[in-house]
Amino acid sequence: MNLVHISAECYPIAKVGGLADVVGALPKYQNSAATTSQVIMPFYDNTFTRVNAFKIIYESQLTLGDTSYDFKILTLKKPLLDFDIFFVDVPDLLFKDYVYSMDDTERFLAFQIATLDWLLSWETIPDYIHCHDHHTGLIPFMLQESFKYERFRETPNVLTIHNAQYQGWFSHDKVNLIPEFDFDKVGLLDWGGSINPLAAAIKCAWRVNTVSPGYMEELKISANGLEHLLSNESTKCTGILNGIDWKVWDPETDHFLISNYSDKTIISGKKTNKKHLCDTFNLDINKPLFAFIGRLVGEKGSDLFPDAFRAILQKEEVSILLLGSGQPQVEHQLELLKGDFEGSYNNFIGYDEALSHVIYAGADFLLMPSRVEPCGLNQMYALRYGTIPIVRRIGGLKDTVIDISETNGFGICHDDVTVSDIIHAINRGLSLYKDQSAYRKLGKYIMKIDHSWDASAKEYIKLYNSIKQNT
Ligand code: ADP
Ligand code: GLC
Repeated sequence: MNLVHISAECYPIAKVGGLADVVGALPKYQNSAATTSQVIMPFYDNTFTRVNAFKIIYESQLTLGDTSYDFKILTLKKPLLDFDIFFVDVPDLLFKDYVYSMDDTERFLAFQIATLDWLLSWETIPDYIHCHDHHTGLIPFMLQESFKYERFRETPNVLTIHNAQYQGWFSHDKVNLIPEFDFDKVGLLDWGGSINPLAAAIKCAWRVNTVSPGYMEELKISANGLEHLLSNESTKCTGILNGIDWKVWDPETDHFLISNYSDKTIISGKKTNKKHLCDTFNLDINKPLFAFIGRLVGEKGSDLFPDAFRAILQKEEVSILLLGSGQPQVEHQLELLKGDFEGSYNNFIGYDEALSHVIYAGADFLLMPSRVEPCGLNQMYALRYGTIPIVRRIGGLKDTVIDISETNGFGICHDDVTVSDIIHAINRGLSLYKDQSAYRKLGKYIMKIDHSWDASAKEYIKLYNSIKQNT
């Protein structure tokens, strides 16, 4: 089986969030004697592309409406990953020092068209084309409808929805950017009066999956306008829980950590990492450390942190450390907390991969009060590093964390996203921490919970095979 993943992000090349982690891991675990899994992504101007050497394997021109752009397909001179990776270099549009911006319609359309133009030149076309999120959402439509891609009509494609909040909407005025198709089919592109790449992909893909079973069910009720579409298409939709890359996220070998540890050395290992964090961020090591890592956006519930943290910190019983960036007003309020609660609160506003690993290792609790969480990887990283997750019961969080009050429970769960829910959950964490023997037992236990990709990678293979069985 030969399959290609097409994605805007892939770790360690370009990462904004969990999409990169998934696309950087799943192909590794799919690659086996019977499966060849490859990735195609844009060529951005970033550290990875600056420090590595690439060779050109294909050169051509693509057309976007009336404009032509030169493009190249590049690959690494020396293979660095456990799968083959190809880069679409459209210098005028994609080679920027960011992944997402305001001009994404043209940028990601160019990416999708260049990708398909190149795939057309392959002697043997892939058995499956696997698209991720709305940035690649027009591919299933183009494979099915664009005249120039007729060769792909029988090539099955799969769409994975990592986050249905973002759909890539653009106006019908730009429909001419899409390679020519029978205009009677324009309805396939439309949802609610605009061109909606995610909706078009849900309509045209042969199979659709979300990144947790729980999220698939929730989307039928709340999907940022796509509820009816997902209900209508439910027979081809399924939920497959993400895994985590145990080769990257292993506290025994993680080269970002100050001290590596296993479930046997968890106490001393976590302590050394916590000390480093507390020294660096001027926090009291004797208090339990609650942390948050993530995008400061409404979906993550982070707008409630300033009020919740202010109330909790007044009691002087906990330390809090936050890593993230996003909404400016939230960033501003969090910065103010630093001054008010010196010694018990600190944050790093920005993106720092190395620091995130040390936080997973050194924190005692990880907060995730998400309003929407299609899967969430942070809670699984926290578990792997022996850090208790505190999560809202939603999407993938609900599928992966069991509250300590339930049988075999190991985390702290809350039902709603309010300041008082967050405060109550932190207080429950505090009580748990005070019972050091129970707290330590849990830490060892959660490190062994298996969220590696092995099982989920097999689920994807089953998904591809289910297409064959039906054709
Ligand atoms: P999402 O993709 O919705 O942001 P996930 O939980 O799936 O959420 O994945 C987030 C990923 O991004 C994790 O690998 C997390 O560690 C990482 N991450 C998020 N924010 C930051 C940050 N500011 N610095 C470093 N890593 C971050
Ligand atoms: C999205 C979701 C997140 C998920 C990630 C990887 O960014 O917001 O919940 O874990 O994709 O699938």
